[in-house]
Amino acid sequence: MAVEQQVSSNRMKAGPEAVERAVEILRSGGLVVLPTETVYGLGADATSSEAVAKIFALKKRPSFNPLIAHVPDIVAATRLGVFDHYALTLARSFWPGPMTIVVPVRPDSPVSELARAGQDTIALRVPANATTLAILERLGRPVAAPSANSSGRLSPTTADHVAADLGAGVDLIVDGGASRIGVESTIIACLGGTPIVLRPGGTQRDELEVILDTELADPADDKVIAPGMMASHYAPRARLRLNATDVKPGEAVLDFGGQLSGGVAHIDLSPDGDLQEAAANLFAALHQLDATNVDMVAVAPIPTSGLGEAINDRLVRAAAPR
Ligand code: TXA
Ligand code: MG
Repeated sequence: MAVEQQVSSNRMKAGPEAVERAVEILRSGGLVVLPTETVYGLGADATSSEAVAKIFALKKRPSFNPLIAHVPDIVAATRLGVFDHYALTLARSFWPGPMTIVVPVRPDSPVSELARAGQDTIALRVPANATTLAILERLGRPVAAPSANSSGRLSPTTADHVAADLGAGVDLIVDGGASRIGVESTIIACLGGTPIVLRPGGTQRDELEVILDTELADPADDKVIAPGMMASHYAPRARLRLNATDVKPGEAVLDFGGQLSGGVAHIDLSPDGDLQEAAANLFAALHQLDATNVDMVAVAPIPTSGLGEAINDRLVRAAAPR
């Protein structure tokens, strides 16, 4: 009975059996959805262009948008990219954890050019999830993994989110429960000179600045950008009205710290006004509001400090005209 269930379902709870199965599938060029502390990733063997091509096809991701290569540790990362003093300091301080470092790619890196979208840089991350780390260690190859959602849509923070969107197209979903952080990794480019934050995320800017003992520049100050940072992204079906101080008839509410009342549906990201809790709940709340079929969501103002920077970044993109 148990065996039959496993064959008929492409979903397994995180743990040793899932590690075994995920490694087998990745080795033979398949797609495995991996739990991470930020969001779920759609993983494939980063050294195989055929496997990587399946990611782009399933997500309908534009081929100019490069993928993050996930590795189990710093040693594996330094085989793929060239780490300067800043990159090494960051890696030692924040890995495993919600931070991705962009560095020059090593000429002998085995990561497929398709995964890098032809760039001469590579984005590297060591995720903080025991099952996924075990998979990366056992596989012994980097895993290319974007967030496991259709391109431009909301990121998944549960296995159910993934199943509803891309489920039918993947070989295995490893269910590791709800993602602890809930927003994607902070992306920081170390390409000579002071590092540049390309995407705010789960590691806060002030934590990075303390460790590096310097102020960090934004991509607006420079030519370097993350090709995937389009204005409209994380797009729910409903439209968002940001920094709302009132609720209009027919609107649903995405609240923070109990600022708004009423609404045809009402979700408070954190009644206590805790930004960490709000980040962890953000995508699930947007998925949930979308499921109610409302057309407009009034979103309460959310502080921009700490994790609020990443939360506001995602909300602005989710609200952008498309
Ligand atoms: O938390 C995360 O980072 C999740 C989990 C699964 O690890 N992954 C994720 O991947 O958010 P994705 O593909 O949804 O976002 C990766 C971003 C994209 O905006 C992409 O353009 C950027 O990283 N990126 C990848 N390689 C890059 C590079 N070499 N230079 C600049 N940006 C890069
Ligand atoms: Mg994404």
